[in-house]
Amino acid sequence: MKKTKRILHIAIGGILLFVAFVFSGFYLFLTVTGNTIPRDTLSPSLTMQLVGEKPIETSEVWEEQKPYIKKLFESEVYGSFPKANVSWSRESRIVDEHAYGDTATVEEVLLEDSTKTLRIPVVLVTPKNVEQAPLIIAASFCASHTAFPEYSVSRPAVYPSICDNKETEPLKHFILGRYIESFPVEAFIQNGYALASFYTGSLVPDSTEHAPRALETLSQLSEQPVTGVIAAWAWGYTQVMHALETDPRIDANRVALYGHSRDGKAALLAGAFDESVDMVIAHQSGTGGAKPAQRAVGEPVSDMMKNYPYWFDHQFSTYAGRETELPVDQHFLIAMMAPRPLLLTGARQDKWADPKGAFMAARDASFVYSLYTGIDSFTAEELTDFVPQDPLAFFMRPLNHGVREADWEAFITFLNAHFK
Ligand code: GCU
Repeated sequence: MKKTKRILHIAIGGILLFVAFVFSGFYLFLTVTGNTIPRDTLSPSLTMQLVGEKPIETSEVWEEQKPYIKKLFESEVYGSFPKANVSWSRESRIVDEHAYGDTATVEEVLLEDSTKTLRIPVVLVTPKNVEQAPLIIAASFCASHTAFPEYSVSRPAVYPSICDNKETEPLKHFILGRYIESFPVEAFIQNGYALASFYTGSLVPDSTEHAPRALETLSQLSEQPVTGVIAAWAWGYTQVMHALETDPRIDANRVALYGHSRDGKAALLAGAFDESVDMVIAHQSGTGGAKPAQRAVGEPVSDMMKNYPYWFDHQFSTYAGRETELPVDQHFLIAMMAPRPLLLTGARQDKWADPKGAFMAARDASFVYSLYTGIDSFTAEELTDFVPQDPLAFFMRPLNHGVREADWEAFITFLNAHFK
């Protein structure tokens, strides 16, 4: 009886989800039209002088402004970027020495601070035919045990329950794409890339209930309050990077951070704040990512702070309804990646993440890229123009929010254009 009831619930849930998916797709199809992007420039202007007298006409002047821009992002949006100087112990366990047809090694690397309060388990896949492989550090929405179901790797204490539900898996993959929780590992190996997969929630849980304790620990180690989880996750990316780039099998000068949605926000912030990040792929990062807060399209600050109050500093919520008064907006964050390669992405029906806005933000930020490169660094004219050889590129595909085959094909094209 119990079983029949459960099946019935799952079936009804599935049908409701499917109907919602079809209707939202239809609605968004009607509302998101055209590829042409208005030429308006976002405010505040990137040429604005935050300090000093000099107009921003050279990369040197931009470099002088950067510390002030960072401070503004910390005080108004994300809270402090952790300054914790952790010396991580690194314990490796070989999981499979002959993985993927003996083309790669899979190991689990556990990074732990000396007090054993911060832990980041990483699944590291290294190709065998490359001496020093470029590395993709990738967070997945579900933890590594769902990204690598064939291996027994550790589970975090807190993660979304949907990640373990085998019954709803086909529907989840249909709606969000199969790479929402895994990676095309064979394609990485074929192209000579190493992969470090980790779950941001293992550092600071993605939960109103459990995040505060981890933030408190991080605040103690940083000797300053760390008030937003996105900043903590961003720092987590940089910690995985610094811990792994000493590995002789990894090329420390070719490390890319990849994240989708909430992890896309964190990956972009990590690249903007840590200059040693070589590339970022911020996929459908939305509000607090590549989407300008000032555009009255997609997820507003009020919704963001109501649903995920622990992701940002409380100060960000004071801009709800007056987003245009933010002293910095996301095109500044994008510009802080200059001149390093950055790929931003969108999906046609993913209006919540405002792909048009992200495109506009990238186009504005390209002014700063050109201060370094001397050339137009963002040549896309329309939303669908994917120009992988540009250091700042945009990729747009049909359908909705999620991670699909077409996304990883584009990401690998971008990686190959800059890392080969
Ligand atoms: C929610 C949230 C978005 C976020 C997304 C995700 O939809 O509102 O800001 O990007 O979750 O992480 O999938």
